[in-house]
Amino acid sequence: MLTDAGLEVLEWQGDGPMTQPELIERAKQVNALLSLGADKLDKHFFNQCSHLDIIGQFAVGYDNIDIEAASLVGIPISNTPDVLSEATADVAFGLMIAVSRKMFFNHKTIIRGEWKKFEPLKNLGFQLSGKTLGIFGMGRIGLVMAKRCKGAFDMRIIYHNRSRNHEAEQLFGAKYVSFDELIRESDVLSVHSVLSDETRGLFNREVFSQMKPSSIFINTSRGGVHNEADLIEALNQGSIWGAGLDVTNPEPMKPDNPLLDMPNVAVLPHIGSATVEARNGMARIAAGNIISFYQRREVPNCINPQVLESGKS
Ligand code: GLV
Repeated sequence: MLTDAGLEVLEWQGDGPMTQPELIERAKQVNALLSLGADKLDKHFFNQCSHLDIIGQFAVGYDNIDIEAASLVGIPISNTPDVLSEATADVAFGLMIAVSRKMFFNHKTIIRGEWKKFEPLKNLGFQLSGKTLGIFGMGRIGLVMAKRCKGAFDMRIIYHNRSRNHEAEQLFGAKYVSFDELIRESDVLSVHSVLSDETRGLFNREVFSQMKPSSIFINTSRGGVHNEADLIEALNQGSIWGAGLDVTNPEPMKPDNPLLDMPNVAVLPHIGSATVEARNGMARIAAGNIISFYQRREVPNCINPQVLESGKS
């Protein structure tokens, strides 16, 4: 798409993310950047690369980008919403079922040669039908998760969000509750929020201690939203029953992390948007945002649209 639109493309061919000095050096040679979530685009980056016309982030999340610093130097930042909502909600939904039936752990028992006989009282999970799903962050992905859980298990949906989501209320009978009610009433609490100053480390010891001892914590948004040491402690002490994570803190998770040995825990290596459909959609949107900027001075998925109005200084 980019070359068809007449742009010359310089592609990073290295295995793994660039270091910030490498990124800055390359970015100085180009006019636009198609970035990944692992690229650290902070104040220092924008001081060095204030010449950039536009950044097309290949992700819906953009917590790796200092939007204020980008706006100060007049650079529009775009992301790739919608196309990955189904894929990411599927991972949250899958983790919920996997945790409720200890699937990842039971799989490992076969590999370890521990499947010897039928044991009626061993490794029991629990049923999800009719349970209460709490959604923290009822945006596009949270809405799909609500749909999955309502349709499959007739779960009662409660949610907490910056603003009311009338679609979720009308379609799935979702009930807006305070954060305290959310953590106290949820049987499954699924996080679909952004990582921001307000949400960083929000799910900590104090919050876990107020959740039901029978509850499951699911996080498919950003690992920074939960405190991992506190989560491990909460699971060990039985403050909550289980956890399913597609995002960890830090990423990648170390192979000796105690969470990986816990029966009621399922961890995935940040694969929320990893379907052919979602990744193709993300590529199309990220490239399209850049092309649209050059062809029409419009950016369909712009995070800081005010810079488009004021123009680059
Ligand atoms: C993935 O984590 C994304 O933000 O798109």
